[in-house]
Amino acid sequence: MDYIFADKAAIITGASSGIGRATALALAERGARLCLLARSEHQLVEVRKEAHLRGASEVLRYLCDVREEMEVENAVRAAIERFSRIDVLVNSAGLSLNGEVEGYKLDDWRTVIDTNLTGTFLTCRAVLPVMKRQGGGQIINISSGAGHNGIKQMAAYCASKFGVIGFTESLALEVRNHNIRVSVLLPGSVATDFSRVSRREAEQAEREDIGYSMTADEVASVIVAMLAQPDQAWMSEVVLRPLNLELRRTLRG
Ligand SMILES: NC(=O)c1ccc[n+]([C@@H]2O[C@H](COP(=O)([O-])OP(=O)(O)OC[C@H]3O[C@@H](n4cnc5c(N)ncnc54)[C@H](OP(=O)(O)O)[C@@H]3O)[C@@H](O)[C@H]2O)c1
Repeated sequence: MDYIFADKAAIITGASSGIGRATALALAERGARLCLLARSEHQLVEVRKEAHLRGASEVLRYLCDVREEMEVENAVRAAIERFSRIDVLVNSAGLSLNGEVEGYKLDDWRTVIDTNLTGTFLTCRAVLPVMKRQGGGQIINISSGAGHNGIKQMAAYCASKFGVIGFTESLALEVRNHNIRVSVLLPGSVATDFSRVSRREAEQAEREDIGYSMTADEVASVIVAMLAQPDQAWMSEVVLRPLNLELRRTLRG
């Protein structure tokens, strides 16, 4: 239990896997009340169970596709009804569908932009009224190193993650005088299911050969640190990179 987080009410998107899951469990260990959003019921049930075991005082879960305005609105409304407030929103839902721009399907473009960028907009918009009413709150949007640098075959993903940074900076300025801190986190490579979903097999093999990445737990610990900022400080953007590539290789054998 951690007095900073005890009974704080947090909504986490992408809570069924990877960074979102690790963040949910890190906040659970500190006694937070959680609302977990994702589309995979089975995984959400597992995370909810684990969050209870780790000490979360209350855990809600909602099947929610962040691309869908009504699903987001309904899930956030349900969390507010239950918790009466929302202290924290972490936007971790995201994906990439890789491919060269020439021949890239419009449907895939829309899926990536709608999930990573529009989904972030929808959840942020939904929590702002309650955060303003209660006199403050914190939002952490997860961009990526791909939000600062273009990567071949990841144009849609990079466009969405550049967009998340611009969106976050703009929103942060709109709400800072309401004591709402909006921050963006740019992780480098993290070992999660993300790569498995997004990469082509050849690229994946090449990446494994590079042999390094952070763990979701390491990223979650940084998110916890960002959420524990002093009252009048605002960590607006955090770039997170793996430190020692050689060490990583050794640890993985
Ligand atoms: N892994 C990396 O190397 C890396 C690096 C930098 C940034 N990031 C960013 O970190 C975030 C988390 O990724 P991760 O590495 O933890 O990957 P992950 O393990 O694949 O998790 C992605 C999460 O997003 C959810 N999601 C995807 N589409 C969704 C939708 N339409 N509606 C609701 N939820 C959706 C998934 O849940 P369901 O499928 O159950 O809906 C899952 O919980 C992403 O924004 C990613 O872009 C990852």
